[in-house]
Amino acid sequence: DKTLIVSAPGKVILHGEHAVVHGKVALAVSLNLRTYLQIGLCSNGRVQINLPNIDTWIITPGKRTTNQLTTSQEQVDKLRQFAGIPDGCVDTRSLAILCFLYLYGAISASSRQLPSMEILVWSELPTGAGLGSSAAYSVCLAAALLTANESIACPVPEENGTVRWAEDELELINKWAFQGEKLIHGNPSGVDNAVGTWGGALKYHAGKIMPLNRIPTLRILLTNTKVPRSTKTLVAGVKDKLNKFPSIIGPILNSIDAISCECERTLAAIVAGDSTEESYAVLEELIDINQHHLNVIGVGHSSLDRLCQATALHSLHSKLTGAGGGGCGITLLRPDTSPSVVEASKRALNDMGYDCWETNIGGHG
Ligand code: PMV
Repeated sequence: DKTLIVSAPGKVILHGEHAVVHGKVALAVSLNLRTYLQIGLCSNGRVQINLPNIDTWIITPGKRTTNQLTTSQEQVDKLRQFAGIPDGCVDTRSLAILCFLYLYGAISASSRQLPSMEILVWSELPTGAGLGSSAAYSVCLAAALLTANESIACPVPEENGTVRWAEDELELINKWAFQGEKLIHGNPSGVDNAVGTWGGALKYHAGKIMPLNRIPTLRILLTNTKVPRSTKTLVAGVKDKLNKFPSIIGPILNSIDAISCECERTLAAIVAGDSTEESYAVLEELIDINQHHLNVIGVGHSSLDRLCQATALHSLHSKLTGAGGGGCGITLLRPDTSPSVVEASKRALNDMGYDCWETNIGGHG
């Protein structure tokens, strides 16, 4: 019996949230908080998926389903019926199982039937916080299932221990992961699964996803205010404001676009070793300006204001990430930010009831 463990990172948006909905540039980067999936191939005629804290689900593989790389409503309805998931049910368990069933059936049908297997999933990413946890899960499933039915080769670890799939194999993983994401999210942009697959940073503009060649690994504090928000409502709010005040809100979205581009240039300068001190100061200023812009377009929240104030007391710079209205924020740390400053900031944020992690962005896919 063979066992394979795969993992994929979550993501944060560095700059460009909301503006991207209106055709502007956004920068998304990988997070070093990851989702892991262990797949054990066996021959007991069963498929078992263990989603700790969510569910265990066992099926007996039947006949082939479809080999189309699409998720038609009809297919989804059939899968829902098969899994006994009521229509309109959107809880994490149902969606995770539906995504697995779809990918298992469709990848089986695309080349050869997948064998019996036992799958175990665990994650460092909170769900529903805008950190791409569902995409990381989808990427892991796609990579593991494609490897299990030998559509892609099991990569051999390099000398330094890293494991990489070839570019065309990553493309395939990403394509299937996107289908899984569609089942979970309906109409995703494709950014989250692309970051999960390739890692590093991506520039997203007008529906096109472009990997940024080289970005530094940045230290950040990631804070979850745990204030629930609806991305859909917040996106609709920005659209209303833009329709009502096009000549006031339009230039702000243009400015956010320019911030993303300036940030991209600055990251490249840091990689090139150009005046790092100055570059970090630029990154900090861009964070402050964008956070003000995001407040102006109506996606701020008092919980995020408190986050920014608490970290500013330690000369750190923070902004919301993702949809805003609560949710998560990021705080940039410099390479030489001392552990005592980080600890004091974390304590202040924890005292406010927030979850807070020091983590890195820009890691591998
Ligand atoms: O909350 P998240 O990480 O899913 O990000 C939403 C980002 C928005 O720009 C607000 C919406 C979108 O679809 O791009």
